[in-house]
Amino acid sequence: MVCQSVEGERGILMANNQVHFFDTTLRDGEQSPGVSLNVHEKLELAQQLARLGVDVIEAGFPIASPGDFEAVKLVAQRVKGPVIAGLCRATRGDIDVAWEALKGAESPRLHTFIATSDIHLRFKLQKSREEVLEQAVAAVRYAKKYTSDVEFSAEDASRSDLDYLCLLVEKVIEAGATVVNLPDTVGYAVPDEFGRFIRTVRERVPNIDQAIIAVHCHDDLGMAVSNSLAAIANGATQVEGTINGIGERAGNASLEEIAMALYTRKAFYQKEVGLNFREIYRTSRMVSSLTGMVIQPNKAVVGKNAFAHESGIHQDGVLKERTTYEIMSPELIGVYQSNLVLGKHSGRHAFKERLTEMGFDLAEEELDKAFKRFKELADKKKEVTNHDLEAIVKHELFTPPEKYRLNYLYFASGTQLIPTATIGIVTNGEVVEDAACGDGPVDAAFHVVDRIIGIHGELVEYKLSAVTGGKDALGEVTVRVKVNGRIYIGRGVSTDIIEASVRAYLNAMNKADYDRCRGETGRKITIDDPTNGHEGKGK
Ligand code: KIV
Ligand code: ZN
Repeated sequence: MVCQSVEGERGILMANNQVHFFDTTLRDGEQSPGVSLNVHEKLELAQQLARLGVDVIEAGFPIASPGDFEAVKLVAQRVKGPVIAGLCRATRGDIDVAWEALKGAESPRLHTFIATSDIHLRFKLQKSREEVLEQAVAAVRYAKKYTSDVEFSAEDASRSDLDYLCLLVEKVIEAGATVVNLPDTVGYAVPDEFGRFIRTVRERVPNIDQAIIAVHCHDDLGMAVSNSLAAIANGATQVEGTINGIGERAGNASLEEIAMALYTRKAFYQKEVGLNFREIYRTSRMVSSLTGMVIQPNKAVVGKNAFAHESGIHQDGVLKERTTYEIMSPELIGVYQSNLVLGKHSGRHAFKERLTEMGFDLAEEELDKAFKRFKELADKKKEVTNHDLEAIVKHELFTPPEKYRLNYLYFASGTQLIPTATIGIVTNGEVVEDAACGDGPVDAAFHVVDRIIGIHGELVEYKLSAVTGGKDALGEVTVRVKVNGRIYIGRGVSTDIIEASVRAYLNAMNKADYDRCRGETGRKITIDDPTNGHEGKGK
């Protein structure tokens, strides 16, 4: 352990020292405004979460849309190791659909919920406390018919009447709930109060030892991580959150921050964390890249500046003894140096070794593809750094097979010219070509793509950043494109920023076309649907 200063501090010792990490990046995280992951991206991320070693992956809310259903089913069938959970409201219809999606999992979990605060009961559900209690118990009993692993969440627990909540928790445990989750749904709690709240529930509910106590905190007041830690110190043994803290509104508790707090301050919390810490950084980058949600540079643990020392005094101190200003080591979470260089003479073997060091374990075929892209890049760029390699792997390999691929691109632009683009796109083994004008070369190129694919995309957001420093740096473009009311995220990299833009746009439009071919409408049921599932929305 890096930090020496905690010796002698006293933590609260619990009989069971292991904290279970429940990741809901694919469900609550995907509820972030403007984020929409397709089935392939969800599977990719779930596989990475399994490598990170989370205990539970909440793969989605199967009744929300056919896409969610399909994603949960695929993750359940393919991802081994963690428990795979699917969210469902406290109704038979939701539970049936969730089970249908989950049943292929090695260890499936049904996660059913209903709101318990008076404010939700009165305005959202229009039900009495008795009715909600009855519905919660019935849902857990029904879910138990399918599986022994049933989690029950009391939505808005932190604002619920404590006596009522304790009674309800007792009854759902009696009905068979093995995990009881007490969320701070609207991020209203503060750490002391939330810790006391968890302790009180533990002390008052007579059969609480028959279930795991979980917490799920939102970050509206910026206290989701602190509240989660306070809950852990008071007896919660499952913590729910997302990577990078993404999620509804201000987001969820950031799992990597909780993990590193428990690790770095182990003498205080006295808890074990079963994660592969070295996968933290890579998971964080993958989440950011797939969701298009940029990580703020000063974000704890995974921000670009989290381990950067700017002031002379700090630099001097770190050079003399790292622990003067560094309480965690970047290597521990898998941050790799970006200045290790490969060039155009580097062979396949060196290339493979470097990717392995960086944690990418590629199949031969994937390696061939990545090596080809590396050689193309090395022809244009003298030095290829680890960050360039990561960009290649992410963009070229984490993209599922696409129906439309860029074959060539010409554009003409200048102060005295009408910007024009000509593009060739390979589809079904043929090259389709077209040309168009626009306000600029990017606009012109996007018009051509629209014409060839036959879908109109509305560009909602465009971001360009350099992967590394230097004039020959790779440009990385992320676009958000709206098609039929749904947002698609596309990413592309190239040393040429127009080419990177076209690759990114094409990436988004391929996803839109995939949905169009499957007749996916983009409509989703949200967890706050006021009918609470009473309109018989089966699949
Ligand atoms: O925030 C919340 O209360 C939730 C529940 C559905 C677990 O996401
Ligand atoms: Zn939530």
